[in-house]
Amino acid sequence: MPKTKSAEKKGKGSTKGAPSRLVVVSNRVPDVKDGRVQAGGLAVALEDALQNEGGLWFGWSGKTSTGRPAEPKETDVGPVTYVTMDLSRKDYNEYYNGFANRTLWPLFHYRLDLTSFRRTFFSRYQAVNELFAEKLSWRLKENDRIWVHDYHLLPLGECLRRRGCKQTMGIFLHTPFPAMEVMTYMPAHRAVMKALAAYDLIGFQTDNDMRAFTDYIEYEVGGKVSKSGKVEVFDRTFQVGVFPIGINPAVFERPIAPKELAWARKLRQQHGDKAWMIGVDRLDYSKGIPERFHAFERMLERYPGYRSQVSLFQITPPSRGEVAEYKEIRHELETSAGHINGRFADIDWVPINYINKSYTRDRLTLFFRSSRVGLVTPLRDGMNLVAKEFVAAQNASDPGVLVLSRFAGAARELKSALIVNPYDTDEVAEAMARGLEMPLDERLNRREAMMKVIHENDLDNWRDKYLAALADAGRKA
Ligand code: F6P
Repeated sequence: MPKTKSAEKKGKGSTKGAPSRLVVVSNRVPDVKDGRVQAGGLAVALEDALQNEGGLWFGWSGKTSTGRPAEPKETDVGPVTYVTMDLSRKDYNEYYNGFANRTLWPLFHYRLDLTSFRRTFFSRYQAVNELFAEKLSWRLKENDRIWVHDYHLLPLGECLRRRGCKQTMGIFLHTPFPAMEVMTYMPAHRAVMKALAAYDLIGFQTDNDMRAFTDYIEYEVGGKVSKSGKVEVFDRTFQVGVFPIGINPAVFERPIAPKELAWARKLRQQHGDKAWMIGVDRLDYSKGIPERFHAFERMLERYPGYRSQVSLFQITPPSRGEVAEYKEIRHELETSAGHINGRFADIDWVPINYINKSYTRDRLTLFFRSSRVGLVTPLRDGMNLVAKEFVAAQNASDPGVLVLSRFAGAARELKSALIVNPYDTDEVAEAMARGLEMPLDERLNRREAMMKVIHENDLDNWRDKYLAALADAGRKA
């Protein structure tokens, strides 16, 4: 059973000569239930590193409190301590829903039309990062390595440094990083970039993202960037690097329980011999789902032979539902799926099965494996792990085809997918049809090439490379 206790300051902190722990900080922390960590991708990847020399994972509990939030809660699982804190309703509205998801998220995904610049959002974002630093700093030991994740916590390193923390600190950005010109639309751009300079290592998903960052450093603020990724700016020297995140492919290749297989078989029977195409995305405007629906509609217009023969399954768990733009996209998708189904459906065929719920990993694997075409067509995406998961889940002797947006980080690695511009409706419609018709030889070759990359750069590799670079950056600092 986990040991749950409220935080006690006594006895923590001073630990000269102690082994180097890994301290992970992310907005969301994996759930711990009955002494077990509910493992998502990132949690699995970091588990080894956390277990080896002990570790700490700090972040938001996912809960809001009406009054002043209580002290963070600590839960020990083996040598790892999970420390989570509630946010006040105001913090949640202005930090999470506000600056994180109404300013940084749309801006970093090139959606200036959806970006809100409000000073109250920015000051609350700073305040929550300051609060995290206050609650974390005294828990740190001298030799800790701190690995911060994502756009919610860009200023955390600076807040910790202000409190005298000298530990090696790195951040990894899971999202894209916007081009300099886009970044400068944000009134607080300089403050945010200066704060980032407090880290020893900033990791990006792709060269493109890193180039966008270094362009800003060189051309907007006159800093220096060397070929090896050393950056000198704002009176600091730090490293930048590219670390494309991977998956653990074995999870998608392992045998599946007979009960789940029976579920998939029954589902397949209900749909006769119709071909499936599949999209799996969090409900987010960056994922290009309306554009995907239009492309599917275009395919049915241009190639009438597919009518009654091909169904699109779009699995879209809702997210960030309190943000107005997410309510709008939800409404737009319901309208669009309804329109297309109204136009083309027949008594025995629903063109788009639009589903607002999530499925277990095994069921998703079976959905992927039963689909002839996987549609991963975001308008902009840091990496998009669904692309890698779809490929890994395929039947090795009869694989489906991945249609992949050139604007997903994954397109830089999965070059054997059918790469499309999601804004080009006709091109996506053609790629859908090409995927449905692709001969077995070509499907096998394309999957083999992609699996090679997926295996070479799996999740463990990603973690090891980042942590090695962080240790190196720490030594240089
Ligand atoms: O892509 C950025 C990211 O923070 C992911 O790491 C995460 O899966 C997703 O967004 C979750 O968003 P939220 O915590 O807002 O539901």
